[in-house]
Amino acid sequence: MALSPEMKARIEDRVNTGLPDHWYPVAKSVEVRADAPYGVVALGEKLVLWRDKTGKIRCIQDFCPHRGAPLSYGEVHAGNIACRYHGLVIDGTGTVQEVPAMPDCPMEGRKALRSFHVRESSDAVFVFMSSNEETEPPELPLSPELTDPDWTGFLCTAIWEVNYRYALDNLADPMHGCYLHADSFTLAFGSKQDLLELNNRDEGFRVARVGQIGENFDWVEFETPEGGMYCHLDIPYPPAAGPGGNMRIVGYVLPMGPQKCKVFFWRMRKVQGFERESFRFLYRAQLEENSWSVLEQDRVMLEGMADHSRTREMLYQHDIGLAHLRRALNRTARAQLEAEDAAAGVVAAQ
Ligand code: FES
Ligand SMILES: [Fe+2]
Repeated sequence: MALSPEMKARIEDRVNTGLPDHWYPVAKSVEVRADAPYGVVALGEKLVLWRDKTGKIRCIQDFCPHRGAPLSYGEVHAGNIACRYHGLVIDGTGTVQEVPAMPDCPMEGRKALRSFHVRESSDAVFVFMSSNEETEPPELPLSPELTDPDWTGFLCTAIWEVNYRYALDNLADPMHGCYLHADSFTLAFGSKQDLLELNNRDEGFRVARVGQIGENFDWVEFETPEGGMYCHLDIPYPPAAGPGGNMRIVGYVLPMGPQKCKVFFWRMRKVQGFERESFRFLYRAQLEENSWSVLEQDRVMLEGMADHSRTREMLYQHDIGLAHLRRALNRTARAQLEAEDAAAGVVAAQ
């Protein structure tokens, strides 16, 4: 049955904001410290993170329950966070511990803010953006290279002033490599004409060029398990880039606001022993700069696109990956909304 216009609008709005009940990376591990709070926006929600006395990362809404000052402007004291404005102290569960300006203030002991589940892995901090604090999070979806000791790499993050959907579309679009990045160190090779094929996988899909593999950005795999979404792809490396063959990129995207996202890219190679050290040295000395300039080409192109370009585009065969990805996001948003409506006793109108 066709969806009602209202349901279509709700799906669009939810996908545009970012799907709740998924894990998202929000920061590098080193950015979240025990001596200073770290503020970030995820799915339009302001969050503050810090490390408690045990080193565990805590995450609550970045909103002082007194008057709404950002807690991320405050200080960490004895594992809790103190608001800079009037000193209120709140703990990692979002409960007010102390109102130092006012003896016996009834706010003390009140749970005032939502807290979020946090996991640290592979140099990154992941937050489960639950729609309901009681929801038990599913397993953190980690690309296998991230936890496989045979692989080594570097996490690079960047904020792009564009809705996260454009960053995902870009990753699902292998044909842009040999055009947008044609003058780069690693992506200048291969034919500029091809067809793409799409294959469903257990939990996700693969988009690949039909006519060449291993010459350019020729394939990408998106994984869409219950708890989130990530992708991986290969950038072929010429011999001058040292041992290890292809550079594997593992990508996650954090939706921040309507026109803001943060990309998390691990640049990895399967290298051990001496080759591992040589890659890590070469990466810092030379390859990192090349990688950044390629990423900048993506950022500039996407930021130059109008936010409503999606409503005017004329897609062709090469866009099967992003069309598939969009359908997957819409399907998940619809299933979430229908489940929420059912739980709230709303009779579905569609
Ligand atoms: S706004 Fe935070 S203590 Fe007043
Ligand atoms: Fe690119």
